[in-house]
Amino acid sequence: MTNNYQEKMSLYSETYRPQFHFTPKEKWLNDPNGMVYFEGEYHLFFQYHPHGTTWGPMHWGHAVSHDLLHWEELPIALYPDEHGAIFSGSCVVDWKNTTGFFEKGNGGLVAIYTNADTYPESDRPRQRQSLAYSHDNGRTWETYEGNPVLSDEDITDYRDPKVFWHVESERWVMVLATGQTITIYTSPNLIDWEFASEFGQNEGAHFGVWECPDLFPLMVDGNPDHMKWVMLVSIGDNPDFKEGSRTQYFVGEFDGKTFLNHHDADAILWLDHGRDNYAGVSWSDIPEENGRRIYLGWMNNWRYANQVPTETWRGAMTLPRELTLISTAGGVQLLQKPVSEIHSIRKESKVTKVIELTEEAYLVEGNHELMEVNLVVTLEAAKEFNLAIHHSSEEKTNIRYNRITHLLSVDRTQSGEIGFSESFPAISECPVALMDDTLSLQLFLDSSSLEVFAEGGRGALTNLIFPRGINHTLSLTAIGGGAQVEELSVTELSSIWEKGVCAYE
Ligand code: FRU
Repeated sequence: MTNNYQEKMSLYSETYRPQFHFTPKEKWLNDPNGMVYFEGEYHLFFQYHPHGTTWGPMHWGHAVSHDLLHWEELPIALYPDEHGAIFSGSCVVDWKNTTGFFEKGNGGLVAIYTNADTYPESDRPRQRQSLAYSHDNGRTWETYEGNPVLSDEDITDYRDPKVFWHVESERWVMVLATGQTITIYTSPNLIDWEFASEFGQNEGAHFGVWECPDLFPLMVDGNPDHMKWVMLVSIGDNPDFKEGSRTQYFVGEFDGKTFLNHHDADAILWLDHGRDNYAGVSWSDIPEENGRRIYLGWMNNWRYANQVPTETWRGAMTLPRELTLISTAGGVQLLQKPVSEIHSIRKESKVTKVIELTEEAYLVEGNHELMEVNLVVTLEAAKEFNLAIHHSSEEKTNIRYNRITHLLSVDRTQSGEIGFSESFPAISECPVALMDDTLSLQLFLDSSSLEVFAEGGRGALTNLIFPRGINHTLSLTAIGGGAQVEELSVTELSSIWEKGVCAYE
């Protein structure tokens, strides 16, 4: 007989179990789905295989949170049905009851997702869009009797609907991944859909199948009179490219039917330069008075997602991040920062000011298993700045800034367990231009991930790491000349599951 108490105590404390990122109690997770805010709760649904720790027949798992950090996992929301498995999709609040699914009042939650099966007597995949609705804040769901509501026999990869209410045209808008383009549909009621336009041919990167789009407006430089629309598009794994699956974005305008890219058609804008941030989309229906656009991705890569060395569960989400737009010399770009709610897991900080760096390592010892590091360093004569996180005497992850190439890199080739996939031991690189030769970095180190944000979120590198050692020591060096750390703060972070386990009791 299992010892119930022990089982509960060890849940969320397994080797490599993320302590401040969402993971399911057990089994396989991939894309975030149906992210919506409704009646005080942030909902996070996710691609879920409850019968295994590798990808399989997809369900929608479900968790809720009040602060985007502490999650309570709820029972599975959607199960495979007569139309197939439940692939990625979105949720909206049907405030005006345009569907007629709700009695009256404030409407309720509607999920729009892809049903995936195969054509009759054929192996050819069939992907069609369906609806489900909930009368009890997402706890239980009914599928719509008229499912599927949108299909196209010519297009095989036809999935991942993200839907939002377009105020000016008073219509629902759906962005749908259709092969290597995004097709836009509109609807008065989420049930009847009409083709509006297609975006993406000869635009951006086409290294793999396009998946999981999102489309939303943001202010540029915080100016409400200067709005632009952002389109996110994830690109599936292609063995010819070492990066595996990754996410690009476009910035432009949208009139309710057509998206116009404002960057050059061949410009490629990566959302994150690390290897492990995929299929991310943003929360729907965050109240206007809050006004944030909050994003979260699957912290993994299709290249090796089925092999990462965790046992009882597999798959985690990134930290939730607030997205904003800023204008730069290269055009308008996305900026991402962990949400401010992160303060709730901060413990004490140790702040050190003015450290002169040379080629001899400056060591910061006695660090924490879970930590945030904030650092501002002026490069002075240095050609390179190096911050190594030593997990043990044999394992380290290196963060390096090269002043000549202007590349910030994260090297996980010696970060711990790396042998489960040839593609895993990698160095990821992000271009970062500096102002006044000063670099600012914010790092979040969890049991099996490192998220690096540079220059207030202009650059992001999200990477999984599997260090066996957890006695982290930081070592800082300047190469080819001196550098000065203006400020270094190391903050211990607490586990989100202290609460999670209580909720589980
Ligand atoms: C992206 C994706 C989606 C699909 C889902 C299936 O990671 O391939 O396109 O809906 O995963 O689990």
